[in-house]
Amino acid sequence: MIAEADEIPEGESRTYPYGDTVVAIFRRGGEFFAVDDICPHMGASLAGGYFDGTAVTCPWHAWRFCVANGTWLDNPKSPVRLRCHALRVENGKILIPPPPRNIADGD
Ligand code: FES
Repeated sequence: MIAEADEIPEGESRTYPYGDTVVAIFRRGGEFFAVDDICPHMGASLAGGYFDGTAVTCPWHAWRFCVANGTWLDNPKSPVRLRCHALRVENGKILIPPPPRNIADGD
């Protein structure tokens, strides 16, 4: 489990530790979307951005990303995108598969 679904109000997001990074989980229309909470531009927290539909606008330089599929909405053909995480909700709990282990670190 990564979060209780009730912790995230409709139209908002919250951040949670995930392996050696942080994910932002957004809620819209009863659906949840999990992405790395790191803007691909210069690393701002996207959880602090303006959230409209499934688009989040980065609070630093206003790049916009789709939290449903990671697309950079200002330049959809670009390879720049958010890393999205599959999730499911069971009994009010948001579940995300554990991050892959880094064998090189001896984990
Ligand atoms: S850090 Fe997000 S747009 Fe620049």
